[in-house]
Amino acid sequence: MVLYTVLVSLLLSYLAGLALYQLFFHPLHKFPGPVLAAVSSWYEVYYNLIKGGEFITELERLHKLHGPVVRIGPNTLHFNDRRAYHDIFSNGTTLVKDGQFYQAIMPHAAESSFCFSDPQQAKNRRSLLAPSFSRQSVMKLEYTIQKKVDQLAALLEKNYCTPESSMKLSIAYRCLATDVITEYCFAISANTLSDPNFAHPIVLETLNLIKRVWIQTYFPFISHLVARIPIGFILWLFPRFRTLVDVKARFEQQIDNFISNPEDLAAAEHETIYHHLLQPKDPELRPSRASLVNEAFLLVAAGSDSVGNACTVGTYFALQDHSIRRRLAEELREAWPDKGRPLSFTSLEKLPYLTALIKESLRMSIGSIQPLPRVVGDETPEIHGPNIPPGTIVGMSQYFMHMNPEVFNNPYTFNPDRWLVENISEMMLDFVPFSKGPRQCLAWRELYLILGNVFRKLDLSLVGEDTYVYVPIFKNAVIITEHNNNTGKVI
Ligand code: HEM
Repeated sequence: MVLYTVLVSLLLSYLAGLALYQLFFHPLHKFPGPVLAAVSSWYEVYYNLIKGGEFITELERLHKLHGPVVRIGPNTLHFNDRRAYHDIFSNGTTLVKDGQFYQAIMPHAAESSFCFSDPQQAKNRRSLLAPSFSRQSVMKLEYTIQKKVDQLAALLEKNYCTPESSMKLSIAYRCLATDVITEYCFAISANTLSDPNFAHPIVLETLNLIKRVWIQTYFPFISHLVARIPIGFILWLFPRFRTLVDVKARFEQQIDNFISNPEDLAAAEHETIYHHLLQPKDPELRPSRASLVNEAFLLVAAGSDSVGNACTVGTYFALQDHSIRRRLAEELREAWPDKGRPLSFTSLEKLPYLTALIKESLRMSIGSIQPLPRVVGDETPEIHGPNIPPGTIVGMSQYFMHMNPEVFNNPYTFNPDRWLVENISEMMLDFVPFSKGPRQCLAWRELYLILGNVFRKLDLSLVGEDTYVYVPIFKNAVIITEHNNNTGKVI
């Protein structure tokens, strides 16, 4: 009993000492913010995990209260200032990705372009991926994207053409984007659109990964533990992990096939992302097998969820506002009289209203609502004026860029017209759906072809309650609501 009392007293004294240090002596102690956030990183966890992704709303409240810089964790600052965003995300050498966060959020893609925090490693991987995302390379993929869009349109026309039938277009779009990215990775599409119920395991697993994201992020030891336990035992305990195991086996098999039969790679119908990953100009840069599998997970998740989300947001708002829908349909009809023949991307990208609608969809869908954390290096950069101590974690959610009323008038209104004025240079500067990296040519091409074809060829309508909410989970900023059984479905 005495020993127990001593241990508890020691622990409490240690915690009290730590809290005093964080509050009064830590290098960030002068920055404003809630006391609880200064002494514990559980502040963010509480809002995201317990309150269901509400941290973004809390960040908004904190910035209103304390100004443009807020201490949101013992060692973390969050900014709400457009100059700070550019300072943080343009500065690849003095500010590096917070590896702990990235590896926790995507443990199955820890060795991928998204998660590398070492600048050299990240640069090497980007150099292998860059050729696949150039305008020229993506141009060659147009036929594949068009084929998949046609498949989706035919599926919807065949199975969902009666007034009683409805489905979630948000899932259908993710299936389409999954098929495109898997085809681009391996020259064999996962063909998730073959299931008229849109319930293919790869798509379901990507959605499951997103649902698990907070648990993975805040309790990374669970992923480490799971990786050490025999897979048979995990599946016995949690049978729903079967999908993840199957998806991994599929990626491994496709990659192994390319490694052991390079002639299959050479005989592929078109160039793939894995051509560049497996046969780099500098053989030293060829990723390990584990890293190749990790990259597949990242590419499929990154390429399907974000495109699916942006298309869902664009479709929802166009269907909700008759004038948007009418103007879009008129523009498409005029430019594309014979809808039986495909219209090329180069023609679609010249259409002003479609372009404005796509930009507005990207603005409102917010690629990543969770602040992407960067660690300040020894060469302390200036971020929004004050010098930030080395080792500090800094971030700013894209939400604050895209919802800044000084740049985007009435930011919560979906308004393609804002992009049709003469001078959009200020908005373009702060339009950062892909953060500050090179623009994603593949994403643009998919969005033009998908939304252009859908609004030219299909007659969609909203079913259920036509409301939308911000659901602040990573990469899922705006989705159609699903409360009251079937509300908010799109078609
Ligand atoms: C609407 C479409 C898309 C949006 C809004 C979007 C947004 C983003 C954002 C915000 C990041 C994070 C950058 C960071 O951590 O700083 C990212 C990274 C990435 N995305 Fe996308 N993305 C989209 C489509 C795609 C597509 C189609 C692909 C193709 C596979 C893709 C591949 C990647 C890759 C490989 C990364 C990691 C790159 C790196 O950090 O070097 N994305 N994307």
